[in-house]
Amino acid sequence: MSLTPINDKQAVAIHAANIVKNGMVVGLGTGSTANYFIEELARRQAQENLKVTTIASSTISMIKAQSLGLNVIALTQVSEIDLYVDGADEITPEMSLLKGRGYDLVLEKLLAKAAKQFLVVADKSKLVDRIGTNFAIPIEVMPMAWKAAKRSLEAAGGMGDLRQNVAKDGLSISSYGSLVLDMRFDKNMPEEALNHLINNTPGVVEHGIFRGLASTILIADNGKITEILNELRK
Ligand code: A5P
Repeated sequence: MSLTPINDKQAVAIHAANIVKNGMVVGLGTGSTANYFIEELARRQAQENLKVTTIASSTISMIKAQSLGLNVIALTQVSEIDLYVDGADEITPEMSLLKGRGYDLVLEKLLAKAAKQFLVVADKSKLVDRIGTNFAIPIEVMPMAWKAAKRSLEAAGGMGDLRQNVAKDGLSISSYGSLVLDMRFDKNMPEEALNHLINNTPGVVEHGIFRGLASTILIADNGKITEILNELRK
C-alpha cells in the first residue's frame, strides 16, 4: 500500500509512480520530487512485484535507485524509453520548463526527448508566468569555452557567472565534466528568442529551458493533483 504523503512533492510523486506499468523502461529524474518517485517505484517493485527497468538522469539518482534495488541501465542500451518522470524549477502556462538546479541538464534533456511520455511532477510553487522568474538560466558550457560563451551571451544582454560549488571554494562541475553558467536575461526577451540564442552559442553543451518536451504536468496543491496535458507533444 502507498504511503500517506508527508507533503505535496511526495503526493505528486506517488501519483506518478502509480502510472508506471509492468515492463516499462522508466527515466528517473533528479531532485527531491524525483527522489520520492524513485522511492515509491522501489516500494512498488518490492511489494507489488512491479517489473521495471530504469535509466537515471544523474549519478546521484542512479546511486539512489540502485541502493533501493531498482535495475538501472545506461542510455547507450536503448534509443527510446517509455516514461520519464522528473521535477522542474519553473513551469510556465505554455508548459515550458526551467530545469537544471541540479546541473545534470545533458542527460535530463536527452531523457525528456527520448521518452514516449515526459511526465513533470511538481508542487504549485513551481508555476510562473515566464521562464527566469525565480532562477537564472543554467547553461552547461565546455570548460575551455566558458569565457567565450559567457561573452557571447553577455553581448545579447545576459548577466551572470560560473556556478560555484556548495562550499564556495571551487566551481560546480556537471556529471559530464561541464561548467555551469547561471545567466539572467532581460525579462522582456521572448522565451523562443532566448532558447534560440542559447542553442546557437558556440561552446554551450546544453541549457535548462525545456520547450515543447513535457507531455503531461502534474501539479500538487494541498494534496490535490491537477493534470495538464500537452496535446501537441508527439
Ligand atoms: C535537476 O537538475 C532539476 O531540474 C530538478 O528537476 C529541479 O531542481 C526540481 O527539484 P525539486 O524536485 O527538488 O524541487
